[in-house]
Amino acid sequence: MTEVIIAPNPASAAQLVAEIVITQLEAHPSTVLGIATGSSPMQAYLAVGDRAQARSLDLTGVRGFGLDEYVGLPSDHPAMYRNVVRREIEPAMRLLPDSIEMPDATLGTLADAGDRYEAKISKAGGIDLQILGIGTNGHIGFNEPGSSLSSRTRVKTLAEPTRLANRRFFGGHETVPIHCVTQGIGTILDARRVILIATGAAKARSIHLALEGPVSAANPASALQLHGNAIAVVDVAAAGDLRHREYYQFAWSNKPKWQRPHPGPVASIDS
Ligand code: GLP
Repeated sequence: MTEVIIAPNPASAAQLVAEIVITQLEAHPSTVLGIATGSSPMQAYLAVGDRAQARSLDLTGVRGFGLDEYVGLPSDHPAMYRNVVRREIEPAMRLLPDSIEMPDATLGTLADAGDRYEAKISKAGGIDLQILGIGTNGHIGFNEPGSSLSSRTRVKTLAEPTRLANRRFFGGHETVPIHCVTQGIGTILDARRVILIATGAAKARSIHLALEGPVSAANPASALQLHGNAIAVVDVAAAGDLRHREYYQFAWSNKPKWQRPHPGPVASIDS
């Protein structure tokens, strides 16, 4: 079952996620991270970098794998997730440049792009800690409603709500790519631990359906209910539709001290 932590505001949600990530990196310097793009985890990435600097942590052994990528963008397009990762996420987290691998979504190489990416993740020993955001339609990565719950990395067609939500990065709806390469839901479920972060009232319905709705391909994030070590960190606005929020708050405020920050690092390939 997913553990649900309700933070008073987006800043404290980011700090909580950062503390879980940094505890992992401190214990296992060759952790393999799964990295989501999008606005939701950005503050947490910055907080990880700040904490790493404050504790003089050596992050040179940390590697990562991005969740997804748009198909067919010119290599210098600012919205290409590879470029977002190089420009914003690696510096924010104070990771080495190019330490986060991204799916290859170059036109002409797509037939085996998913298999090649899966092979790279396997060779790295699998993902220890996957950081996730969620779409307003319940997508994780770019696994749109209807995605197989056992899917692997592959080419997908973006849903219109996703293209509309992301048009701000492309200067208009028409120029948003139609296809992407995304880790599958099965790939995400293979991570040893998953942390989902969501803030703001716009995510309240998708968070309710993900955590309390039926497990269904119609709500891809609901697959996280099948993960044995998943944590959802949400702010009060994103928690607005949760039916059991009082219980989640009660459980969190009574969490045994020895389990904090929950529930200690996962074993990594360096252990
Ligand atoms: C994007 C990304 C996802 C991200 C989600 C939410 O389209 N492909 O990986 O988690 O949508 O984005 P945001 O955090 O900006 O709301």
